[in-house]
Amino acid sequence: PPKFQPYRTGFHFQPPRNWINGFAGPMVYKGIYHLFYQYNPKGSVWGNIVWAHATSKDLVNWELQPVALSAAEPNMDINGAWSGSATILPGGKPVILYTGVNSKNQQVQNVAVPKNTSDPYLIEWTKPPQNPIMSPTTQNQINSSSFRDPSTGWLGPDNIWRVVVGSKIGRRGVAILYKSKDFVNWVKDEKPLHSAHGDGMWECPAFYPVSVGNRNSVDTSKSSHDLNVKYVLKMSLDDIKHDYYTVGSYSYHTDVYTPNKGSIENGFSGLRYDYGKLYASKSFYDGEKNRRVLWGWVNESSSVDDDVKKGWSGVMAVPRRIWLDKSGKQLHINPVQEIAKLRVNPVNLRNHVLKPSSLLKVHNITAAQADVEIAFEGLDLSKAEVLDPSWISKPQVLCNQNDSSVGGSLGPFGLRVLASRGMEEYTSVFFRVFKKYTKSNQHMVLMCSDQSRLLLQIYVIFHSFSSFSDLKICFDAYVKKLQIDHSIVESFAAKGKSCITSRVYPKLAINKAAHLYAFNDGLQSVKISRLNAWSMKSVQITGKQ
Ligand code: FRU
Repeated sequence: PPKFQPYRTGFHFQPPRNWINGFAGPMVYKGIYHLFYQYNPKGSVWGNIVWAHATSKDLVNWELQPVALSAAEPNMDINGAWSGSATILPGGKPVILYTGVNSKNQQVQNVAVPKNTSDPYLIEWTKPPQNPIMSPTTQNQINSSSFRDPSTGWLGPDNIWRVVVGSKIGRRGVAILYKSKDFVNWVKDEKPLHSAHGDGMWECPAFYPVSVGNRNSVDTSKSSHDLNVKYVLKMSLDDIKHDYYTVGSYSYHTDVYTPNKGSIENGFSGLRYDYGKLYASKSFYDGEKNRRVLWGWVNESSSVDDDVKKGWSGVMAVPRRIWLDKSGKQLHINPVQEIAKLRVNPVNLRNHVLKPSSLLKVHNITAAQADVEIAFEGLDLSKAEVLDPSWISKPQVLCNQNDSSVGGSLGPFGLRVLASRGMEEYTSVFFRVFKKYTKSNQHMVLMCSDQSRLLLQIYVIFHSFSSFSDLKICFDAYVKKLQIDHSIVESFAAKGKSCITSRVYPKLAINKAAHLYAFNDGLQSVKISRLNAWSMKSVQITGKQ
């Protein structure tokens, strides 16, 4: 790989070189966080997939460990050790379920256990001879090339473990349900936990409880009788490479999952963890801090040729915490608090009015590696433009047509990040505010991460509020947090109800030549009530792969 690497990140996890895709089997064990990832030891394109391994004490700095699961056994995984999940069994014993591709190129599920459970680093793993423990057969009629990514197990009050495995039947995405008493002998249930027509393959399905009314998490390894929970079903849609979820209710007696009405917004088949690039993500119960943590894979937007040239592909999003919104309909997803450890040299600004067509430079910050929080107020909502209902189903088009250099009324206002001095290139992350109808008091906030200045993708989300009388909600909407790290920009708005992750490859705005600005291109003034920005230190990634 070349020495000059302007797109490598400073505070995101990535191995020193080669391809990664998807983070499998996350867990915390004896106080150590374990990150496994789909890894090609031989190059920067997908192939030769094994489970690489890294550990951390703080979710910030990482130590690379030897490969945990290699592709080795003809009947188990000789053609690839693919994604899967970890479960902590009673007595605190971790176990991994993963997909192997066998010598016949069939996808099968295997179990792996630590060689030495007294080693908190869980360096060595054994694949018991009972493997594979789930296989496609003519009897069960499972498609052998669409049978993968077993979830973390959840234990019912009947002391029976359940997991789901991703699949498809024709165009129907399916989460096949399996049950077991001992985690080795598994029986496929007659009916899947859930399925949806038209989705195509469901990769990396996840199913987990979330607490209602607080941010605490729920231990999936303890048989739960807690009625005060809802359930999240997440699936990674292979066809469009996005992670979708629904929130709903679930009965252990019937193993029926029923998504909420209203957890489906804007005509999508569900909500998204992230409206930009985040795929094949995995979350886990973190008993150390009583929270659920999410690790997402963010792939490149560059060409395969570029990946080969730079010698690597893929980064991990900053670890995020997940909890259920008060409404019970949607998740909040925010960077974990530990990341704040990396902040240095704070820059603060209060009550600054951004007039129409104005730009405000944020000085004294390493703008290529920064953490920014910005809050706006003082919006004259009566001036909001009326939203054409046809825009709701295609926000990308709206964002595109009205890019951040084209004036609207209330907005676009926000931040220009990774901007070159002469504004030849930048990414803007901005808001626009609309009225739903001419006379309505209902407003919608659009957040965009606009890369049209870089001739790359544009990602968008609409926020919808049924009433604008709740001032607290709308202020939350205009608070944005951004994590900027050379070639990745992660934006969080409305307390993490809306996240957009983008990859950016600046040609000019590299390292010290990158700048940060707040801007307002709308016709109305807006006030920055506060802006807090920090330069971010780099994390340490030690050890050898
Ligand atoms: C997700 C995925 C999984 C599979 C693995 C293969 O990106 O396609 O479905 O197990 O990656 O590397």
